[in-house]
Amino acid sequence: MRNRRLLFQFVLFIILWYAIFHRPKPQSLETVVMTKHRNYVENSRIEIHLKRELEKPFKLLFWTRWYDNLVSDDENTFKYRNDCRSEFILTSNRSQLSTADAIIFSLMDLPWNKRKVDYIFPHHRNPDVPWILAVTEASNYYPDMREDFDGIFNWTWSSRTDSEFHVTYRDLFTKLETPDERWLHGSTFSDQFLRQKKKVAAWVASNCELVISNRQQLVNELSKCGIGIDVYGKCGNKHCGNGIDCFRKLGNKYKFYFAFENSLCVDYSTEKIYNALYHGMIPIVYGLGNWSVKAPKGSWIDVMDYKTVEDLANYIRHLDNDPISYMKYFEWRMYYGIVGTFDSKYHCSVWKQIRDRTYLVIQGEERCRHVYDYLKTWYHFFHNPTSGLACRRCAQLLEQLQNPQEIRDSVHMNEENCV
Ligand SMILES: *[C@@H]1O[C@H](CO)[C@@H](O)[C@H](O)[C@H]1NC(C)=O
Ligand SMILES: *[C@@H]1O[C@H](CO)[C@@H](O)[C@H](O)[C@H]1NC(C)=O
Ligand SMILES: *[C@@H]1O[C@H](CO)[C@@H](O)[C@H](O)[C@H]1NC(C)=O
Repeated sequence: MRNRRLLFQFVLFIILWYAIFHRPKPQSLETVVMTKHRNYVENSRIEIHLKRELEKPFKLLFWTRWYDNLVSDDENTFKYRNDCRSEFILTSNRSQLSTADAIIFSLMDLPWNKRKVDYIFPHHRNPDVPWILAVTEASNYYPDMREDFDGIFNWTWSSRTDSEFHVTYRDLFTKLETPDERWLHGSTFSDQFLRQKKKVAAWVASNCELVISNRQQLVNELSKCGIGIDVYGKCGNKHCGNGIDCFRKLGNKYKFYFAFENSLCVDYSTEKIYNALYHGMIPIVYGLGNWSVKAPKGSWIDVMDYKTVEDLANYIRHLDNDPISYMKYFEWRMYYGIVGTFDSKYHCSVWKQIRDRTYLVIQGEERCRHVYDYLKTWYHFFHNPTSGLACRRCAQLLEQLQNPQEIRDSVHMNEENCV
């Protein structure tokens, strides 16, 4: 009898203990927000079959400046936009509010930090004219996203794959009808291509101080491991002119190009990888961008795939000495061509995405209607499919250079960064 009572008490205890400590944890607001956002993004990826003829140019009104410049059709803010010039009107003229098709705000040109500066948004809002926030820098460079920007913007344009507008490599290269076999190792063209490349690696950087990713240390370490690196721009002692002319020159001489981002944040990537891909160098990427969205398979080397800098250096040396392995990184060029310039391709792709999604809304596609009610949460977190939680986007780095794989794991695997 007594034994039974003890057993009963024991079972009761276990049940209570289980009920108290194993209750499903209530989800945090961040996780709820980011899960909802992921569902919205997946749900609103809609094949575009525009019914409406695009009879008039689509007008984009820049309500803020763009990197401190006014935007107009005559001035050359987006200087290489010639591919789609006739289809769009770009203006900073606020008097054109009533005829604009979409309105763009650049986060860097807004008073983005906490100091309460009243910002004058357009006084009138047409629900079919989307307000779009362009986020071009990493969130740890502009960390104080204002809470009073919640509930204002409909869509975002950034490098994040959970932004309505982000550019993928498919937008930047032209699919070829027949494979271009010049890019196979052994062709006369590829021999010539390789013969010119007498130098190993180039790095172009103008921002040397206060760089959150410690990329300068990475360059130093690679150099100590015996990799020949020439540093161009303000952070080095070599000069090669401006923009595309510079990259063209580098592309003739160098085998590798360091596409090292200033911040290590999930999905944060810039044009750097394209400076290499457009100009015939293998990009060595250092960042947490989703590179398989950004570049054709097999075209890049990711620093985060290596346990140590020495392993990476050995691999670079191996490719430098083995033309067959080196040329494998250019096999994608058999299937994709480069027409025009990166800037033009990139911006035209964004303008077209904005136009098409706006027309979808006008045609009644309510799945595309949206507003960022929790912009600040979205800005600092990402939905981590591994944990199902909202996790912080940016890696917290140590003073000394870390093992690259560990940096990536610290963001993707460490649930301490998740809420
Ligand atoms: C701005 O747009 C208005 C209305 O279309 C026009 O009257 C005005 O001349 C424009 N201003 C400039 C500086 O172009
Ligand atoms: C990168 O993008 C691909 C294609 O959209 C996706 O399948 C993959 O899960 C993404 N990877 C990460 C780490 O987010
Ligand atoms: C933009 O947000 C506003 C305010 O929430 C909303 O009324 C409007 O329908 C939204 N428009 C689009 C295109 O998402």
